[in-house]
Amino acid sequence: MTQVISTISQPEAGTSMGAELIKKGELVAFPTETVYGLGANGLNADAVEKIFIAKGRPNDNPLILHVAKKSDVKRLWAHVPKIANVLMDTFWPGPLTLIFNRADCVPNAVTAGLDTVAVRMPQDKTARMLIQKSDVPIAAPSANLSGKPSPTTARHVLEDMDGRIPLILDGGACKYGVESTVLSLVGKPTILRPGAVTREMLEAVIGQVELAGSILSPLKEREVALSPGMKYKHYAPTAQVIVVCGEPRLVAKRILELYMQTTIKGEVCEIAATKQTQNFYRGKQYSVMGDRDDPMTLCSNLFALLRDMDTRCDVILAEGVDTSGSGLAFMNRLLRAAGFSVEYI
Ligand code: TXA
Ligand code: MG
Repeated sequence: MTQVISTISQPEAGTSMGAELIKKGELVAFPTETVYGLGANGLNADAVEKIFIAKGRPNDNPLILHVAKKSDVKRLWAHVPKIANVLMDTFWPGPLTLIFNRADCVPNAVTAGLDTVAVRMPQDKTARMLIQKSDVPIAAPSANLSGKPSPTTARHVLEDMDGRIPLILDGGACKYGVESTVLSLVGKPTILRPGAVTREMLEAVIGQVELAGSILSPLKEREVALSPGMKYKHYAPTAQVIVVCGEPRLVAKRILELYMQTTIKGEVCEIAATKQTQNFYRGKQYSVMGDRDDPMTLCSNLFALLRDMDTRCDVILAEGVDTSGSGLAFMNRLLRAAGFSVEYI
């Protein structure tokens, strides 16, 4: 059975128990400021293998190593490029993962055989205490079953992982609710996955940053090697998700048409609205994702809302938004949840 311990009421006892399990090569789910992670000793290949089994994750998808201090990257990377120091000083601890050439001590199980390794220093207190007490880098993907929306509460983790892992540390709801920005520093700095640290924020510090082609479109064959995680169906609820993008008033009009069409077919439909458009949907089944003018609110509610709506409907009609700032992270996750079923009007 899976034990759940609150690190809000018992931070010391919870993280000590977690660290003991990590040292023994077992798995522990823990909160971070982005989403919940499923952690194992990142230097122990057998422990890392257990992550792939518990999640049902394809083992050609590499993992992020989580560290408690900046200097830990020295032993995980072949060397530390100058640009990484600037980024770590500005954004760590926080929701930014950096990829660079790996050192020999990093097991193949972590990197899926790539020459590079992803590292991040989380901000969350429970995560930091767990890593410090474990005294190893912790390899951790999001703590969901592979393909499901990432968990932003301990309850979500339990839904997916009950009976599969010994312990979940419950630190409450995650602050950002969307996974970290993944930035490759091999060659030109390139965002492989957008997150709360936006392209604009990065460019203000290091100048031009590229975007991987797969961020808003399905992955092309030649991009697979660069960003293995992006090739899988991601973040998807069982319900069908349809996204409509464009001027908000026209989006609402089109969504109401689709709502009628699906309801007539006898399917249960729910609208994922924004604060600005909710009035158009009075009398219909809808939930508000957040504020178009503050896309971080959309990001932080998206995964929880997808899980929630999935329990009561067959079709989710979701509004798309502008892709500037954290709108890019939101649209990246939403389009994947929809399997790129999207209308631009
Ligand atoms: O916020 C987060 O990043 C969360 C929390 C738990 O820290 N973790 C997370 O891990 O989202 P995961 O495994 O669900 O996503 C990691 C992503 C995947 O898309 C993976 O393919 C990519 O990072 N990745 C990891 N190492 C890589 C590497 N060496 N090269 C290219 N992509 C890499
Ligand atoms: Mg994930």
